[in-house]
Amino acid sequence: MKALILSGGKGTRLRPLTYTTAKQLVPVANKPILGYVIDHIRDAGIKEVGVIISPETGEEVKRYIDAGKRWGIRVTFIPQSEPLGLAHAVIISRDFLKDDSFIMYLGDNLLSHGVSDSIKKFRKESPQALIFLKEVDNPKQFGVAKLDRKGNILHLVEKPKRPPSNLALVGVYIFSREIHAAISRIKPSFRGELEITDAIQELINMGHDVRSEILDGWWLDTGKKDDLLQANTVVLDEYIKRNVKGSVDCNSQITGRVTIERGASVRCSTIRGPVIIGKGTEIANSFIGPFTSIGDGVTVRNSVIEHSVVLNNAFLSGIERLEDSLVGKNTRVIRKDTHHKALRLMVGDDSTIEV
Ligand code: DAU
Repeated sequence: MKALILSGGKGTRLRPLTYTTAKQLVPVANKPILGYVIDHIRDAGIKEVGVIISPETGEEVKRYIDAGKRWGIRVTFIPQSEPLGLAHAVIISRDFLKDDSFIMYLGDNLLSHGVSDSIKKFRKESPQALIFLKEVDNPKQFGVAKLDRKGNILHLVEKPKRPPSNLALVGVYIFSREIHAAISRIKPSFRGELEITDAIQELINMGHDVRSEILDGWWLDTGKKDDLLQANTVVLDEYIKRNVKGSVDCNSQITGRVTIERGASVRCSTIRGPVIIGKGTEIANSFIGPFTSIGDGVTVRNSVIEHSVVLNNAFLSGIERLEDSLVGKNTRVIRKDTHHKALRLMVGDDSTIEV
C-alpha cells in the first residue's frame, strides 16, 4: 500500500494567510496540518509516500517534509502545474502509484484517529474503494453520499445545491487500481475540476465494490478561518499536556494544561490552559486564555488573548481583548497610548478586521 497526499491547490479560502504559506502548512496547535497527516500515514506503517505540490508553494512543502527523513518514509514529490481536481492529481501520480493500492489523504484534513484500522479493514475485505463519511451541518460545501437502509452507497454528488443527505465525504480515501479506469471515464465538473467524487460514482456504475464507513471520531476540514479556530480548539483540548520548558517568573500564574516551549519567557502574566506558547516567545503583563496557540518568536505585552491563533514573529501590545482571531506571521497589532479614536491600519489583501 502506498500513500498519496494532496498538498497542492490554491488555498483561496484561507487568504491572506495562504499568500505566503501553503494551506497545508498553516499550524494547528503550533504544528502544520500536514505534519498530523504524515504522522497518521507513518503510524499505519506506509513507507512509500507521494506528495502533490503546486508551483506556488511546492518548495515550502518540500522543505517542511525534508524528503521524509524526520518520519522515516520515502517521499516522491509530484508537481501539479494547476489545481485541476483531486482525480487529476491521481492521473499525474500514475508513474508513482503503478498498480498498487493506495490511501489518498487531503493535506488540509485533520482526523482524530489515525488510518491504521481503516487500512486493515481494506486489506481484509478487499473492496475496490473504501470511503469515509461524517455527518455535517453544511453538506453543500462537500461531496455528499446517499446511503440505503443497510448502509450501501446509492450515489455520490460533489457540492450539491440540494444535498441528498448530511453525510459528507471525508478527505481520506482508500483505492485499488480500478480507480484509474474510473477516472479515465469522467469529465470535468461545473467548477472545471476532475472530481474524485465523480470517479468513485463511476466505480459504482462500473459494478465495483465501493464501501463506506461512518467516522466516529472528529474530522476537520481546515479550509476557512473558523474551521481553523475550531481545529485549534479541538487539538489543544485533546493533545496539549502540561510541559513548561521556558522560563516563568514568580509573578506569573500558569493554570491547567499549558505547554511553554524552550526559550520562551513569561513575566507578570496569567496563562490558563489549554494553551501552547512557542519557542523564544515573550509574554509580559498579559492574560492568555484557554484555546490559544501562540507561535515562535512572538511578543505579547499588556494584552488579553483568548481562543485565538497567533503565528510566528507577530507582535501584540496594549490589546485590551483579542478573541476568536487569527493573526498572521510577522503581523504587528498595537494600541497606541493616545486618545484618538482613529484606526491606523496597514492590512494585507483579503484581510478581515472587525472593530
Ligand atoms: O475536505 C473534504 C472534501 O474535500 C470532500 O468532501 C470533497 O468531496 C472533495 O472534493 C474535497 O473538497 P474541497 O473543495 O474541500 O477540496 P479542495 O479544493 O480544498 O482540495 C483539497 C486538498 O487537495 C487541498 O489540500 C488542496 C489539494 N488539491 C486540490 C486540488 C483541486 C490538490 O493538491 N490539487 C488539486 O487539483
